[in-house]
Amino acid sequence: MKLSVQKNYEALSRECAKIIRELVASKPNCVLGLATGSTPVGTYEQLIHMYDAGDVDFSRVTAFNLDEYFPIKKSSDQSYYHFMRKNLFDRINIAQTFIPDGEAPDAAAECAAYEEKIAAHGGIDLQILGIGNNGHIGFNEPGDAFVAATNYTPLDESTIKANARFFADESEVPRYAVTMGIRTIFRAGKIILLASGAGKADAIFKALHGPITPQMPASVLQLHPDVTVIVDEDAAGLVK
Ligand code: F6R
Repeated sequence: MKLSVQKNYEALSRECAKIIRELVASKPNCVLGLATGSTPVGTYEQLIHMYDAGDVDFSRVTAFNLDEYFPIKKSSDQSYYHFMRKNLFDRINIAQTFIPDGEAPDAAAECAAYEEKIAAHGGIDLQILGIGNNGHIGFNEPGDAFVAATNYTPLDESTIKANARFFADESEVPRYAVTMGIRTIFRAGKIILLASGAGKADAIFKALHGPITPQMPASVLQLHPDVTVIVDEDAAGLVK
């Protein structure tokens, strides 16, 4: 894994957006894998600035998001559907976007359909990931085994607590989600893992240098041939 330590969150966001812009320039019909959460918001802001300035054209780009709460209404302010529209998709000219459907009648069928859709688009060229304080990627939570394919999964107690900040009350955080699995993520040609802030330092250290274990899901990224970890100085606190 390559480690890129940036001075602060803004620099991290600029660096990640620059890599995305370069990919879109070299492959205008590329497939991006995107994440929600706080960490990539700055990257999305940079991409919007670049788009407004005429520096990037997403008109042939397809995006697949990593995960979605399940069940959740698309119209809910907390859905990742809503999050992506607000923070990126409604503000650029992206051709096609996909997010697991939190309103699907059957979670297992939605997982299988999502997996097929990614394959039908030729797979993901570049996957952006955040990391949970507990080491999760997507909603692949710590557990006894890695799950390969897109799956319906309970959220870890620590994830429910961490994500309560987006809801009026912790009790409103959905208890389940649909997430790309580890094999789904691994099929991406290139992966960028983003982390900002001292709260992520321990997870970043273990992801980079710890044993490869499903108890620390991000550690499996050590096995992927093209991963760049972009962190700010605070998140790099234990690896330097
Ligand atoms: C979001 C996702 C999660 C987040 C992670 C970090 O789509 O899959 O794995 O990337 O929970 O979230 P933030 O960036 O809010 O710290």
